[in-house]
Amino acid sequence: MKLKDKHLLGIEELSKEEIEYFLDTASSLEDISNRDIKKVPTLRGKTIVSLFLEPSTRTKTSFELAAKRLSADTMSISKDASSFQKGESLKDTAKTLEAYHVDAIIIRHSASGAAKFLSQQIDASVINAGDGCHEHPTQALLDAYTMRKKFGKIEGLKVAIAGDILHSRVARSNIFCLNKLGAEVTVVAPPTLLPVDIEKLSVKVVYSLDEVLEKSDVIYLLRVQKERQSENLFPSIREYRRVFGLDDERIKRLKSDAIVMHPGPINRGIEISSQAADFDKSYIEQQVLSGIAVRMAVMYALVGVSDG
Ligand code: CP
Repeated sequence: MKLKDKHLLGIEELSKEEIEYFLDTASSLEDISNRDIKKVPTLRGKTIVSLFLEPSTRTKTSFELAAKRLSADTMSISKDASSFQKGESLKDTAKTLEAYHVDAIIIRHSASGAAKFLSQQIDASVINAGDGCHEHPTQALLDAYTMRKKFGKIEGLKVAIAGDILHSRVARSNIFCLNKLGAEVTVVAPPTLLPVDIEKLSVKVVYSLDEVLEKSDVIYLLRVQKERQSENLFPSIREYRRVFGLDDERIKRLKSDAIVMHPGPINRGIEISSQAADFDKSYIEQQVLSGIAVRMAVMYALVGVSDG
């Protein structure tokens, strides 16, 4: 399949067929990680740079692992150990990387639109690993991959996304992705943590986790993002947990085959209790595992396929 764009900047721009192509490719690459020798030569001779200007554990490590499993050469630039610390701009960093003729740059940045800006400065493919409150496309792809693997299909699934929808790039990418794949999405949040025009994204809105517990196939919890909240948007952590937290009592009311998901990192005892994070319906570890296959698929499709 020919993708419309050599960059992956967001799910909003992708067609349903493109999303399914990434998921199908991930499915065919997944087995490589179960072999004794976890490596194929697909991206041999390609150079992939990870440029993480915001903290990350899962996204950064799984992209680097995925690139190594495809035999790409990898380089990593962080905010604290690079010339960003001396005030160098993203544009000048892009010029430096352009001079090296790298093939792809994976970028995480605190500003919405940073990945698109970088894609306009450079010939290499740009993969958005999270830009401000805008999008986190590979998170949504790995989440869809995890759901499809569990339920066989996404169409018709009832997915409740609960928490800080206002600041969440994960929520935005998941809403776009799940809607395109035919799921029924409900967002669960206090009005202060919802964007004003949220209904335009074709989602239902409810204001308490209790309203969706017994009806949902997937309860998707979001982290309370203290670093992106400039004011107190809910009365207290205790009050948030009382209305929106998945606790030891609420997990007893889930459908028998429902699953619980969270992009991580989790705040144990706030949006999710320790027991809920660790019980058998929790698919948080499966999400992390899916991240490797999905990120291999994205790099294969954007960097490898163009060479045939
Ligand atoms: N889900 C996610 O993006 O996690 P990291 O911030 O650890 O990469």
